[in-house]
Amino acid sequence: MKNGRQTIFLVDDNMTNLTTGKTILKDHYDIFSMPSGVKLFELLEKITPDLILLDIEMPEMDGYEALKRLKSEKKTSDIPVVFLTARNDPGSELEGLNLGAIDYISKPFSPPLFLKRIENHLLSQTRQRALKDYNDNLQQMVQKRTKQVVELQNSILNTVTEMVEFRDDVTGGHIERTQRYLKLLVDKLLSERIYWKEVSAWNLEFLVPSAQLHDVGKIAISDAILNKPGKLSFEEFETMKKHAAIGEAAIEVIMKTNSDNDFLHHAKIFAGTHHEKWDGSGYPRGLKHSMIPLQGRLMAVADVYDALIALRPYKQPLSAPEAERIILEGREKHFDPVLADLFQELAPEFAMIAEHCNSALQKEGAADPLPATA
Ligand SMILES: [Fe+2]
Repeated sequence: MKNGRQTIFLVDDNMTNLTTGKTILKDHYDIFSMPSGVKLFELLEKITPDLILLDIEMPEMDGYEALKRLKSEKKTSDIPVVFLTARNDPGSELEGLNLGAIDYISKPFSPPLFLKRIENHLLSQTRQRALKDYNDNLQQMVQKRTKQVVELQNSILNTVTEMVEFRDDVTGGHIERTQRYLKLLVDKLLSERIYWKEVSAWNLEFLVPSAQLHDVGKIAISDAILNKPGKLSFEEFETMKKHAAIGEAAIEVIMKTNSDNDFLHHAKIFAGTHHEKWDGSGYPRGLKHSMIPLQGRLMAVADVYDALIALRPYKQPLSAPEAERIILEGREKHFDPVLADLFQELAPEFAMIAEHCNSALQKEGAADPLPATA
């Protein structure tokens, strides 16, 4: 639209029709008249009109063919087209409308009626465009706000997980490493279609990141227990064990206002079930076999492996082969046998991640190893 006036292309091989149409419309719109479809497409290279009035019967390229080409090209597909024709049969009209024309005006036409119909079509197009612009703006605004909320959520999440990690993890990196081990296992499940029913139902975008909250319940455990330089007493260990249920409950509280959040759904399961054991001897519920959610069975392997290869106040890091041996000894006791077998296949990759961190872990004066995790 230029200077508030809308632009109309009038395409007709009959010069009288072109003159008549132009005469009716020129006081209200900027009119470009042309005698053929070929000329129409030449001008469309330079100007995009608000409406095209298209004669059907023309030599070389008829109106149907021109309309098909208009609709097939992205640049012109949204330009509304009204057919002008001397044909007066319902079949021709239907064909034109089926091809995407918005109206079909029979010649000869009454000038006031013709003008009014054009005016109505342009008004309708203007409203549709305004609605589309509004929707596009709204969509952009929603995307921007959603991005802000996700960024805020991630920064709060990072702060919480770092708080847990700083208090508990002497060497750092536990959360990052366990996520990497977990990803190895999940990728293997996917590629070999193992536990496919569960895995295919997961939103994988959230699964691995949500594992970082698995020990969030340790926020409620005292420093004296978390950082005790030696084996925990029975009572202390019982207190430490509460972190699984505390973490699960904390995430459950958040879920009251975000019940359909996939991230929290997985995070709650990781927190509440990562210390369950395949033989039922784990905590907090003593779940057994497939009663333990797959997320918990996966996290058990990743979490224990990392506890074994990491430096803690009460132990030196074990070598990757020693950690591998302990995990495999736990097959059908601590660990799901299927996952233990997958772990065995992935052991070189686990060792690579472990080696990367172990080189930084060798410190003097560390205590004897204790293959326990909490
Ligand atoms: Fe834990």
